Order: sequence, then structure tokens, then C-alpha cells
Amino acid sequence: MNSPKNTPLNKIDPSNNTAPQQGDPLLVVKDLIKHYPLKASGFSFSKEKVHALNGISFTVNRGEILGLVGESGCGKTTTGRSLLRMIEPDSGQVYFNRTSQEILDFEKKKEDFNSLIKPSNSEIKKFSNAEERINFRAFPKKEMRKERLKLQYIFQDPYQSLNPKQQIGRIITEAPVEHGHIKSNQWESTALKYLDLVGLPREALHKYPHEFSGGQRQRINIARAVALQPEFIVCDEPVSSLDVSIQSQILNLLLDIQKELGTAYLFIAHNLSVVFYLCDKVAVMYAGNMVEEAPSRELYNNPRHPYTELLMAAAPKIDGKPLENPPGLEGEVPSLIQLPRGCAFQARCPLAIDKCKEERPQLKELSPNHRVACFRAHE
Ligand SMILES: Nc1ncnc2c1ncn2[C@@H]1O[C@H](COP(=O)(O)OP(=O)(O)OP(=O)(O)O)[C@@H](O)[C@H]1O
Ligand SMILES: [Mg+2]
Repeated sequence: MNSPKNTPLNKIDPSNNTAPQQGDPLLVVKDLIKHYPLKASGFSFSKEKVHALNGISFTVNRGEILGLVGESGCGKTTTGRSLLRMIEPDSGQVYFNRTSQEILDFEKKKEDFNSLIKPSNSEIKKFSNAEERINFRAFPKKEMRKERLKLQYIFQDPYQSLNPKQQIGRIITEAPVEHGHIKSNQWESTALKYLDLVGLPREALHKYPHEFSGGQRQRINIARAVALQPEFIVCDEPVSSLDVSIQSQILNLLLDIQKELGTAYLFIAHNLSVVFYLCDKVAVMYAGNMVEEAPSRELYNNPRHPYTELLMAAAPKIDGKPLENPPGLEGEVPSLIQLPRGCAFQARCPLAIDKCKEERPQLKELSPNHRVACFRAHE
């Protein structure tokens, strides 16, 4: 397994104490819950739900990469999409901030947020313009769209996420023109700038998506996202549909962009090795819950949740080759329709005790910045 990244990301400008700085909280997520209604079959009406997110909380700091890992179906995509309201969560809050102080005492200022629940247009304008904190869930969708441009999403599948009838230069600059970030006559120079940034030939400007390979298309997706100058990007398994030989090129491109532009990422992946290579901190999900979160190096050296340990032992190397005899993540993931009482991991856990069947462990800080949801984590 690759050792974790240890490059410091702080590019703090000491001359300006009030300006947002690398390392300040950028996105704060509190108790996000999403239960998908099950589709009724025939004439029957089903009240059953898929418990995809059961109270997820985390913070992404400015310029930081947070890795989100876990087995298929644990809720990674639902988390990423809920942040941008591509999926409407049932409850929870997502705060996206420009100044650290406001974010730190947002609990104290809860009343302010309540008054935002039905803001007037002028209030919305004030909040969108005035570099104030934004509670996305308090905003009507239309008004939020403008603010949401600062959060972008890079999809897993680079084939389906590009309009086949649009030239690459237009794909990259459509949104910046539409939202007035650039003038319409600047589209060419802007597109060329971003083609250069992502390492695509300038001739790509007037070509169409079908003329490019998967890796090149993912570069186009990255250029399109970055051209909006976002502060935060959800990268949802951005290399998993690509040829193994080009996966590391795309990962390194994402890393270079993050270093150059200081953009924060939520980096979703199955593969812990990739996540340790890229991320400053890592969150591990299991069946719609977060079970552990820690700085990459700490998690790599000292995993405390039994699920994290098993996941790490089973992790393929960065070249995609699985270990020859991966120690077992044996047993079934519980049904998200009927989650067991107690810890969702109990049935597969080698350390489970009676208490795990009765009570659901909450995320608790074991050591600074290392949080674990396991009754036996301290042992
Ligand atoms: N629209 C939907 N309706 C019902 N259930 C859904 C819907 N979308 C996702 N789910 C279920 O919610 C759970 C979480 O799905 P999600 O796509 O977030 O998982 P994931 O961790 O991203 O998985 P993968 O690693 O395979 O991409 C899964 O059980 C999935 O089947
Ligand atoms: Mg997914």
C-alpha cells in the first residue's frame, strides 16, 4: 500500500489575517440523512426505505482533500451529491463558508439561520454577495444555483457526462459564459487556458467528445469543472472507469490542480491506497454511517475501527492489482432497508460484543482529529 501524502498545504498569507486561508473550514456537514423511498411494485404501496445516509457529519477545510472510502453501496455518492443538492437530503445541514470565524460559531448563531429559512430575494442577494455564510438547505434551489457554482462535481463516467454534440471549447466555457464569469467573446482564450492546464492539445478546442479517449475525456471534465473556479470539487471515483495505465496520470493531474489553485476536494474512492496517496484526511463509511475519520498518516499507521483494518488489508495496490490472498471482508453488508439495531458492522466484526447488538456507537474523538465509532476502539 502506498504511504500517505505528507505535503503541507498551507499557503497562508500572513499579511492578511482576515482573508480566508488554506486550512480554514470551508464546508461543514452536519447530520446528513437520506432515506430513499423504495419504488412500489404493481399496485402495492411500499413504505420501506433505503437508509443510504444515517447522520453523516464532517468538515472539509479550505485547500484540503478529504477522502471518502467504503464498499459499494455504503452511501459515498449519495453523500457527495447531497452536498451539491443534486440529491435532496431528508435532513441535515451543509454550510459553505468564506470566513472561518462564522463557521466555527455557527451553532451559537443558530437563530440567525432559522431566520434564513424563508429568505426574501433581497436577503438572498445580500447573503450571496456579502461573503457571508450560506446554509444551502435554507435556500430555494434557483437562488442557490449561483452559489453552488463554487462547488463542482466530477463524475465517475467520463463518457456520459459530456454532451456529444458540443465542441470541447464550448463544453469547457459554456457555464462561465452563461453565468457571466467571462464575456462570450472570451470563450476561446479561456478554453485554451484550461486545455493547457489539464494537459490537452490546443487542437481539442473545436473537436467533439467522441474524438477522445477515456482519460482525455476525464481531463475535459476536469477542465470544465475548474473553469468555474470552484472552491470545492466532489471527485466521485474519477478514475475507476479508466484504464489502469492512465489512472495515475489523472490522479496526479488532480493533485497538481489542487496544489496550483488551492481547491478543496471530497475525493470518493473504493481504494484506500489511492486515497492515502492523495488525501490529507480520510473518512471511512459503512452502511450509511461514518465509522472512522483521521488524517491520512494517522489512519494509515493506526486504524482503530475493525472495518477500516479489514478494508486496508484487502486494499489493492495503486496499480489496481489486488493482493493475492486478501484477508477476508467476509459476510454480507446488512440490508439498508432493515438495518440491525446496534452497530451496522456487528455481523462481520471479529471484535463484536453484546453491547454492539444493542447500541449504535457514535463517532467519538479518540485522539486529536481521530474519530471512531466503535465501543472497542480504545482497547
Ligand atoms: N435513487 C435511489 N433509489 C433507491 N435507492 C438508491 C438510490 N440511489 C442509491 N440508492 C441506494 O442507496 C445506497 C447508497 O448508494 P450510493 O450510490 O450512495 O453508494 P456508493 O457508496 O456510492 O456505491 P458505489 O461505490 O457502488 O458507487 C445503495 O444501497 C443504493 O442502492
Ligand atoms: Mg458511488
